[in-house]
Amino acid sequence: MPDFIVWSDEYSVRFDEIDRQHRQIIGIINEMFQLVKGGEAEEKFEKILGDLKTYTETHFAYEEGIMRIAEFPAFEEHIKLHCGMAEKTAGLFKLKFDDKERIKEKVLDFLKDWWLGHIRAKDVEYVPYVKGLSEKLSSNT
Ligand SMILES: [Fe+2]
Ligand SMILES: [Fe+2]
Repeated sequence: MPDFIVWSDEYSVRFDEIDRQHRQIIGIINEMFQLVKGGEAEEKFEKILGDLKTYTETHFAYEEGIMRIAEFPAFEEHIKLHCGMAEKTAGLFKLKFDDKERIKEKVLDFLKDWWLGHIRAKDVEYVPYVKGLSEKLSSNT
């Protein structure tokens, strides 16, 4: 079965660690897709929701940390977007595994659209600040 989201160079923010984290999250969404398509056990689905929540929170915390250090001007706005998504991700635990059609048709598309949209429109905005900071730091040493 082909992946639900196929990573492409156009999703790269040109910052390795962030790309690595984004790919990890996309990997979890792809796993969720495989599970729903493939009639797997409910426990596995709960585990994947747990992974999605954990990785999402870890990734947001990492980004917020580097944006703060780099004094990215749109920091507050970016954090609000993260908070909204963290809440929605936590809310997915209310889903019933039996509600597969809804997961297939709505939830997976929502996750895909949010992540790819956020990466390409929002995360790319802070990367130049973070890169500028690491260059400044290395030229001072
Ligand atoms: Fe991100
Ligand atoms: Fe972000």
